[in-house]
Amino acid sequence: PEPLKVLGKRKGLNVGNALSRHHLHNPGYTALMARECNMLVAENEGKWQALEPRQGAYEFGPADELYAWARSQGMLVRGHNLIWQDAKWLPKWVNAYDFGTQPAQAAEALLRKHIVAVCDHFGDAIHSYDVVNEAVDPKTGGLRVNVFTERLGAVEQMDLAFRVAHERAPKAQLVYNDYMRPDTGSTKHRAGVLKLLHDLKSRGTPVHALGLQSHIGSWDEMGTGDQQREWRRFLDEVTGMGLDLLVTEFDVNDRKLPGDVAKRDAGVAALAKDYLDVTFSYRQCKDFLMWGMADNFNWLQTWDEAPRTDGLKMRPTPFDDQLRAKPLRD
Ligand code: XIL
Repeated sequence: PEPLKVLGKRKGLNVGNALSRHHLHNPGYTALMARECNMLVAENEGKWQALEPRQGAYEFGPADELYAWARSQGMLVRGHNLIWQDAKWLPKWVNAYDFGTQPAQAAEALLRKHIVAVCDHFGDAIHSYDVVNEAVDPKTGGLRVNVFTERLGAVEQMDLAFRVAHERAPKAQLVYNDYMRPDTGSTKHRAGVLKLLHDLKSRGTPVHALGLQSHIGSWDEMGTGDQQREWRRFLDEVTGMGLDLLVTEFDVNDRKLPGDVAKRDAGVAALAKDYLDVTFSYRQCKDFLMWGMADNFNWLQTWDEAPRTDGLKMRPTPFDDQLRAKPLRD
């Protein structure tokens, strides 16, 4: 079969995968990724917590190693992410930071310092950044609160983050990334993201694209029904603002699908096809990245918030544990 990146090229899509540094020691997996992909994103190594675990003590090594491997394979690199709005994913020292008597200035300085340090270190190696990750609370559609939003205002803080990134990485594509998907349970989430994007656009914030994480599952079943219409309406509105689209973290949660492997794999493939056919029909969608491309290497195996109730391993990606192609691959 033709590699995904060759199929992608025909559709005008880059094909990528999230890799962790320890995967570099798995020759089978890296060979699979090199064959199928022309883009890499670091699964965790590009996050603030990984880059600066203690204040001032930068650890660029793991990300550098991943990006050097990508470059040696001729791959593009995405940076994920400059600011994760959910406080629980910010470094502990940031959450405990002493903002002193001029908190707004101090918050601005800290944010600026981080983005400058990262953009200056990686330079042109990164062609696209998730500048802000997951700013909208899916339960309410409102904006998440953290030490920066409390001192600067949420939209103001994000505007600042994009402007500083644009200043230091003027050639990079700047992305707002969130776990968008079609299910009706995400209606408030989608509305909140649209509002945020409108607010940023009206300020002239340099935001270029929306990253659709696309951790989908059976609840995102669209067929030709209402969920598909809602999803199109959402993508129409985003692209109507002049924004590009990326699928940034694709996988299919099979928690609610039957245990039988053949049935399950067919179900996963069908869900993916419906979702991706619609999403790729937008010419503004130019990138497709998987969040792990073989089942053993996907975060859902160890993400304990919602495991399968039958104790079976998840099968959320296009390749199985033996790196053999599954129906989803085709
Ligand atoms: C996940 C990683 O895959 C895990 O290894 C880590 O423990 C937590 O983060 N949305 C995102 C990604 O933006 O950064 C998350 O990655 C998955 C959900």
